[in-house]
Parts: sequence; structure tokens; C-alpha cells
Amino acid sequence: MAMDREELMTFILDHYENPRNYGAREDAQVVKKGGNPGCGDIITIYLKIDDEGLIKEVSFEGEGCILSQAATSMITEMVVGKTVDEVEAMSSEVITDIIGRDLAMTRPRCTTLGISTVKMAIKEWQRKKMLDEIEKEKAL
Ligand code: FES
Repeated sequence: MAMDREELMTFILDHYENPRNYGAREDAQVVKKGGNPGCGDIITIYLKIDDEGLIKEVSFEGEGCILSQAATSMITEMVVGKTVDEVEAMSSEVITDIIGRDLAMTRPRCTTLGISTVKMAIKEWQRKKMLDEIEKEKAL
């Protein structure tokens, strides 16, 4: 059921004030920074992915506007337990389904920062994995 405006604002503020999966992970396989050059807001994504490409753990740190930080918190809840292929197939507008088109359309760069940075982190993990495999083949 869709949230009314007040419920939506409460929901967004709750994610901003009590961000889910917040904090650095020492054991992350990938650490990726993303940001919006226009405003200087940044986030850092930490990912742990198993050999089958399943996202086991994700966390983030960041500084920025309420929407960018709240949307990234929501994204961390959405991607954990999914495969990298499933996340790559997610639309960059996935947050629109939660917060509604009206709000998402006014602040597209804020609402897509989290998902786009997670996708960049996945790309980096894939590149590292490929390089590891090449190294292993060389060693044979
Ligand atoms: Fe910078 Fe929202 S104003 S990400």
C-alpha cells in the first residue's frame, strides 16, 4: 500500500537518522566511493560477495543530503541476499518505487547515488575476480 506524504517523510527521515547497514567494513572485498560532483555529497560502499556472486554483506558511510543518505540506506536493505546479476538488472530508478515518482523526479541524482555506486562496486568486484582467474591460470 502506498504511503501518504507524512508517512513517506517519516520513513525517509528514519532512514536518514538511523541509517541501516552503516559503517566501514574492514573485511570488505570492494570499497567504492561515489559522489555527486554538483553538490559534493559522497558515499562509500563496502561489499562482501561470495564465489557464486551472492551479495552477503553490504554497508555504507556517507555525508550529504537527506535523500541521498536515506536512499542509500534503503538500497543496502534491498541488495543484500541478491546476486550481482540481479542487482545489475535493477533499474537506477528502483527507489522511485518506494518514495514515489513526484519526489524522485525532483531529485534524481540524490535518489540514484546509492544504487549507481553499488553497481560500480559490483563492476570492480567482477574486474578483480577476472584478474584473479587470469593469475590462477598463469600459475598452472
Ligand atoms: Fe547532493 Fe542530494 S543534494 S546528493
